[in-house]
Amino acid sequence: MQLFLLLFFLLDQVIMVTAVPGCQDGRDRDHRRSTNCKEAGLSDVPAGLDPQIRVLLFPNNLISSLSWSSFTVFTDLYEIDLTGNKVPEVTPSGSPLLPTLSVLRLGSNRLTSLSDHAFSACPALTELYLDNNTIVSLTDQTFSGLDRLQILDLSSNQIKVLPQLMLHPLTSIEILYMENNKIKLMPDGWFNKKEEVPYLFLSANPWDCTCSNLYLQTYMVDFDLNVYIRDGETIMSGALEVVCSSPPWHVGKPVMNLEESDLCSPHLSTVRPNTESPTTQPRPAGTSESLPSILTSTPTDEIQEEEEHT
Ligand SMILES: *[C@@H]1O[C@H](CO)[C@@H](O)[C@H](O)[C@H]1NC(C)=O
Repeated sequence: MQLFLLLFFLLDQVIMVTAVPGCQDGRDRDHRRSTNCKEAGLSDVPAGLDPQIRVLLFPNNLISSLSWSSFTVFTDLYEIDLTGNKVPEVTPSGSPLLPTLSVLRLGSNRLTSLSDHAFSACPALTELYLDNNTIVSLTDQTFSGLDRLQILDLSSNQIKVLPQLMLHPLTSIEILYMENNKIKLMPDGWFNKKEEVPYLFLSANPWDCTCSNLYLQTYMVDFDLNVYIRDGETIMSGALEVVCSSPPWHVGKPVMNLEESDLCSPHLSTVRPNTESPTTQPRPAGTSESLPSILTSTPTDEIQEEEEHT
């Protein structure tokens, strides 16, 4: 009996290392069966993997498309790691093809945008990593159906505009990484569906400190203790790192240190040169050129939309 067990054990070990070339079978931290095909030159999900495997790790390969159906043989799938591949897009699926998938890693791929319902194939996601792509645009519906999602990483992309309703489906969100993007404005009431997000990363964005960003300023004042920065695995309080990039007179100031009047009142030093300039000639009525631009243009959504299209 003991000999049989020993033999069984040895056989098991042999199977563990010889499953699929370039892949190493094992267990993840929570003892789920996993296979790791790191840097194996794969351009597709390899054939011959055991359908019982729950954690599929394919970091740093050459996989150039994400086909949900190539994972449906894995009946109890927990995690897919495609970090550092060449996936250019995520296509919505008509049905939840991967109903058990909890963790999806797509960092360092080639994603440039994410369409409506992009993750409808995997509605049970709790962690979604999309960092270090070149994502420019998202929609109100990109994350629809992900009501169990707790961690969303959108850091180090090229996101310019936050869709007004993008967070609404994410009723369980706990950690939202958005640092290192091109975001200027936080839409009014952006966090209204779930105001308190315990870990929020907002730094390294070109925040605009004008009246149109009043929601960001009040949010920062109310929830500054939830705002962090990170360095690798280490996180530190980071509310003071959420700083203004415009207008020029607020550059570098922490958003939370400004008051409503700082954002919404006309800036005096731009007014002064105009009022002080000698007005020997009366200005023709009806011309607005001589008014400081801050008084004539309250930044409107129209202006921002124009910027988006350029
Ligand atoms: C970001 O992705 C590129 C490839 O797209 C990779 O070379 C680089 O190492 C990644 N950076 C980080 C910090 O992961």
